[in-house]
Amino acid sequence: MLVRYRDIIVTTLKKRLSQDFLPVYDMLRYCMGWSDKDGNPVDGAMGKSLRPSLCLFACEAVGGQIRHALPAAASLELIHNFSLIHDEIEDFDETRHHRPTLWTLWGINKALVAGNVLRIVADRSMEMMKIDEGKDAERVVKGVELLTEACLEMIEGQYMDISFEGRIDITLDQYMAMISRKTGALIRCSLQLGAAMGTENLATLETFRKTGTSLGFVFQIRDDILGIWGEEKSTGKPVGIDILRKKNSLPIVHAMDKADKKGKELLREIYSLEHPGEQEVAAVLEIMEQAGTRDYAQKLAYEYEGKALKLFSQTRLSDSHQLDFGVLARFLAVRQY
Ligand code: IPE
Ligand code: IPE
Ligand code: MG
Ligand code: MG
Repeated sequence: MLVRYRDIIVTTLKKRLSQDFLPVYDMLRYCMGWSDKDGNPVDGAMGKSLRPSLCLFACEAVGGQIRHALPAAASLELIHNFSLIHDEIEDFDETRHHRPTLWTLWGINKALVAGNVLRIVADRSMEMMKIDEGKDAERVVKGVELLTEACLEMIEGQYMDISFEGRIDITLDQYMAMISRKTGALIRCSLQLGAAMGTENLATLETFRKTGTSLGFVFQIRDDILGIWGEEKSTGKPVGIDILRKKNSLPIVHAMDKADKKGKELLREIYSLEHPGEQEVAAVLEIMEQAGTRDYAQKLAYEYEGKALKLFSQTRLSDSHQLDFGVLARFLAVRQY
């Protein structure tokens, strides 16, 4: 799915960001992985284009035309990248996609502005729908509504994620509520919005929405596994980063709950430090080893993968669509990057 839609997504995105010559657009082209920090074209530093691919897939799967979903697909990817630029500042992350993040190269102030510009370029991309599809106003309004809501939810989730930092009392329910927003919202929206560009059937849209919720959990739980055990050469991010940032990712929430008394005490101590270091990362990994955290998290990812497949089967789409979706869901559950 990701390979199938890649070219059309990149071509559309490049159109959205190529006409402007203000230096802030150099930052954005760097962010998208198309140029180096001096503005020279480069190849291969891009993300996976997960969200626009899901959007186009959903639209085609329900019998819609890809051109109806393209503006929304581009918009989703632009919003995603806006969220990354601000997230990297919020998380003090210096590396993504094996490259320095925007704020480390251009400073926090300019990176904040670049993120805001990208957010508005995303709105402009949605407006292309109006121009292309003057008659079909209802569908456009529905698309804008879904995207606005998801964007808000994503930002609310980011607020929750930051508020949870350093805490030792976050429950699984609180964690799920947080990830359902910070990453779930855009993934859920990708499927629902794509489908909404191809059908008005409310039951179908609801099924895509629920499927997206489960798929979002698969995605973020695996992301959290990579945030602890991922290898730098495949993730493009430093090892153990979530522990250094005192995040309440799933492995941490699990270890805080399931570690033995000594382990819990040590975790509390580490999470009360201002800046845990490599020694603390090693100690937390040891506690997680004892508590069986990695297995637990991976099993939960598989559980949601199963739920997503079951929900998607309720769409009664063709076998080939079920297969495509199944392959993507499995990729999200086991991906290394
Ligand atoms: C990374 O998302 C940030 C999160 C939302 C957890 P992706 O893994 O989809 O980002 P890309 O593929 O690098 O764009
Ligand atoms: C990012 O979540 C979520 C958004 C950008 C909305 P994380 O902070 O957990 O993801 P990474 O680890 O930076 O990719
Ligand atoms: Mg974050
Ligand atoms: Mg982050």
